Amino acid sequence: MNSDYSLSNLFNLEGKTALVTGGSSGLGLNMAKALVQNGVKVAICSRRKEKMDLALSDLRKFGDCIAITADITLPEDRSRVLEGVEQYFGCLSILVNNAGANWGAPLAEYPDEGFEKVISTNLNAVFALTRDAVPLLKKSASVENPSRIVNIGSMDGLHVPVVQRVPTFAYSASKAALHHLTRALAVELGPQCITVNAVAPGFFESRMTDYIFEHYLQDIEADCPLRRVGQAEEIAGVIIYLASRAGNYTNGAVIPLDGGTSVSKGAKPWDER
Ligand SMILES: NC(=O)c1ccc[n+]([C@@H]2O[C@H](COP(=O)([O-])OP(=O)(O)OC[C@H]3O[C@@H](n4cnc5c(N)ncnc54)[C@H](OP(=O)(O)O)[C@@H]3O)[C@@H](O)[C@H]2O)c1
Repeated sequence: MNSDYSLSNLFNLEGKTALVTGGSSGLGLNMAKALVQNGVKVAICSRRKEKMDLALSDLRKFGDCIAITADITLPEDRSRVLEGVEQYFGCLSILVNNAGANWGAPLAEYPDEGFEKVISTNLNAVFALTRDAVPLLKKSASVENPSRIVNIGSMDGLHVPVVQRVPTFAYSASKAALHHLTRALAVELGPQCITVNAVAPGFFESRMTDYIFEHYLQDIEADCPLRRVGQAEEIAGVIIYLASRAGNYTNGAVIPLDGGTSVSKGAKPWDER
């Protein structure tokens, strides 16, 4: 038993390797930064090369990082990403399934293609990439130091969002399914020394939330018991915990990171909304 509970031991990530999908902006870039600043070799992937190049030059100030341009909904791109990780790092200790898409439209106008795009990015691609990453994750897994899969879900998969105004049916459904996929995979992969957890964020500033922050920030803050949106260091803290020795025994959990929004009915009575 290792009874060194110093922060430098309990949260030590030195020598690990990680793949963060959608690591070129928003929450993914923050998590990639948190990992690389703590000694993890990090690969990021996303579709747009210019954004990736910017993110890469930012991340490389702190440590070892590579970027692979890829659309995770395409099987050939997913294979290329995993081949790149194997070639550069040899194995994988942390897979962060973060890339995500959203589509908002009133029910009567909600297009099939929008529904399919969201489900295919937020759910199907996560499942396929995870399945294909298991051999690489197993290479660095042990009882004392399991490999990790962290799925970025959403509080919208825990409750039905109320402040969004434009309904996001596919998004909520995809994230609720991702939370349950997390539990099913945790049961499957636990015996192979791979933990699987999800984080369910509330509102954080990013490209995905640009519009809603511009128009409804006051409502978002009023709806949250802490009366504010999430901060970058708060997602950084959760990923460090889940990836570290302190998180070794956390498996099959869906961790809300929303200031209590998903357990609250908000500040306003329902009839004043
Ligand atoms: N921000 C929030 O308040 C919030 C709340 C709850 C959950 N989340 C979740 O957090 C995750 C990150 O979102 P974010 O808010 O940080 O948004 P973001 O800034 O728009 O980041 C999304 C990232 O995913 C990449 N991406 C999107 N589709 C992709 C695809 N098919 N293949 C590869 N990469 C793809 C994007 O790059 P390219 O466009 O260049 O591919 C970008 O790097 C998502 O899963 C989202 O649902 C966010």
